[in-house]
Amino acid sequence: MVNNKKIIIGNWKMNLNMQESSLYLHQLSKMVKTHRDVEVVIAPTTLTLQSLSLQVNLRQFKLASQNFYWRDQGSYTGEVSATQLRGIVQYGLVGHSERRHIFGETDKDILSKVAAAIRNHIRPILCIGETAWERSNGETYDIIHDQLIGGLANITSDELSQVVIAYEPVWAVGTGQNAVPTYVSAAVSAIRSQIEQLYGKVASQSIQVLYGGSVTADSAADYLNLPGVDGLLIGGASLNAYSFNEIIKKAHKDGSIMAEKD
Ligand code: PGA
Repeated sequence: MVNNKKIIIGNWKMNLNMQESSLYLHQLSKMVKTHRDVEVVIAPTTLTLQSLSLQVNLRQFKLASQNFYWRDQGSYTGEVSATQLRGIVQYGLVGHSERRHIFGETDKDILSKVAAAIRNHIRPILCIGETAWERSNGETYDIIHDQLIGGLANITSDELSQVVIAYEPVWAVGTGQNAVPTYVSAAVSAIRSQIEQLYGKVASQSIQVLYGGSVTADSAADYLNLPGVDGLLIGGASLNAYSFNEIIKKAHKDGSIMAEKD
């Protein structure tokens, strides 16, 4: 049995300006109790990362970038690299469904970003998941398979220990239509068996796998209690510090009953 630390990530997407972000972090820091079994990660807009990195207490929260470019430096107007984010963030979202489907990121981009994050000592959170159309065509497991292979090609076993996987069905992200726990459970098992095939049993048990997609304070515990689910990626419900803290509290409560993974 592997008792993975729970990770709760708040993805603010393109919301909150500098002042609002700073105020939010201040409010949240007053509410959240640090807990050795729970890592709370904030993913604000890139603009605010630098100033929040000076404000944040890293024992209480970690920071994540929502995106970055995979090259380290050069003539790439408008981009920010993982090298520039190094030391500012501890995590980086890679291949979020909004990046894949609105901005057309390919598996090749995502593969390069996973590698760039690791090269720059940032833990990549590789987001994978099927669209509604793929789901209705019975392709969920094919997509999980392809996106894992696509994102992790060239990643060694040692490097894999830095990677976090977030299972986020595209149809559940930002729609209010969260996946039922049994569905998530089956998808997470498929992810772990794919990791087992690629990297072996130990890696498949120790890799941290999160769920994301319209999770609220009311539904958070349903996922946190699932065997093999190590945390949550929260969008909309993380925009309010009070509701985000309610979700974090659920992870604290459930931290004592970490589930078995085999
Ligand atoms: P949501 O977003 O919770 O609003 O569905 C999830 C995410 O940011 O990935």
